[in-house]
Amino acid sequence: MEPTVPTKSKRAAARKVQAAPIATLIPGDGVGPEVIGAALEVIAAAGVTIRWDRQSAGAAALRRYNNPAPDELIESLKRTGVALKGPLETRIGEGYRSINVYLRKTLDLYANLRPTQSFSGVHTPFRNVDLIVVRENTEDLYSGIEHEVARGVVESVKVITAKASRRIARFAFEYARRNHRKSVTAIHKANIMKLSDGLFLKCARAVANEYPSIRYNEQIVDAACMRLVTDPSSFDVLLLENLYGDIVSDLCAGLVGGLGLVPGANFGEKGAIFEAVHGTAPDIAGKNLANPVAAILSGAMMLEYIGHGRAAKRMREAAASVLQSGKVLTRDLGGKASTQEMTAAVIRAMH
Ligand code: NAI
Repeated sequence: MEPTVPTKSKRAAARKVQAAPIATLIPGDGVGPEVIGAALEVIAAAGVTIRWDRQSAGAAALRRYNNPAPDELIESLKRTGVALKGPLETRIGEGYRSINVYLRKTLDLYANLRPTQSFSGVHTPFRNVDLIVVRENTEDLYSGIEHEVARGVVESVKVITAKASRRIARFAFEYARRNHRKSVTAIHKANIMKLSDGLFLKCARAVANEYPSIRYNEQIVDAACMRLVTDPSSFDVLLLENLYGDIVSDLCAGLVGGLGLVPGANFGEKGAIFEAVHGTAPDIAGKNLANPVAAILSGAMMLEYIGHGRAAKRMREAAASVLQSGKVLTRDLGGKASTQEMTAAVIRAMH
């Protein structure tokens, strides 16, 4: 099976396979500790030993260190270059800036990859959805530049640069090339934001010219959303700026059965952080109800990245077989199982 995620250099991966690799572990907030705990159990059951450097971030770190992004966390991420992370809480309209955005910017994790595939056994309007969402992770309206121009008038600045647009486009096309994907669709609103989204498209087109065997398309984001929910098979790799990518990837998750199923990763030149697409799910946190599959599959993506492709494949196949048999499912999938029961079923399926 083709690797679904970029991998570390062969030599680095071989080194890591010999000595137990070190990775940063961020359990996160809300359901984070529950689903990350599940991923750890499945990774261990897959026979991979990792020396975890456990760190706090977000609300957990604020409680413990009075700082949502302690220095030790950043140092650990720089040292290990790889992390498995649970979701972090970000208050709406108040409080500290998103620590996710902060980590992605600080470590220059510019590419967010969200493979979104149908699972047999999970009933959704479409079968065979197979979408790769590639989201630019470092700029756009997430630049965090906001100010009150006058009372009752605020501005949020959307930043798009040629450098970041080119490198995310290259990431998408390289991914497509390595994984034999047929097309890349750039999603935009350049009819309105002619300069910013216009620049993004210009860069995507220039990179597309270097990959003549991969079809390149463009689609305005509103029309793309409509087409995604009526004909998802007409897309393959989606290339998006930060905000559209955030929104459209949740839409794509809905197409395959919900947020509990979709893994993700943030890649930079020097490292990667693996995390599920979903957030802290405060409505079910601490109740042993969260679907662990997205976190388990994120763990599998991490194993592939560090050179344990075979164990990653076993994890993915075990999760898929549990979903297919439909006997042990969490409530979001219409079942009655707890997080722990579903995790145990995945582990049984590996043996
Ligand atoms: P959410 O993803 O936490 O929850 C949305 C809905 O999906 C809820 O009904 C929740 O119960 C359900 N859900 C999510 N994960 C699930 C799982 N594993 N199993 C079963 N059901 C699941 O999104 P929401 O409510 O908008 O955000 C809550 C918090 O999470 C916010 O503070 C937000 O900023 C943060 N967040 C963090 C992310 C990250 O750290 N990467 C990503 C998205 C949101």
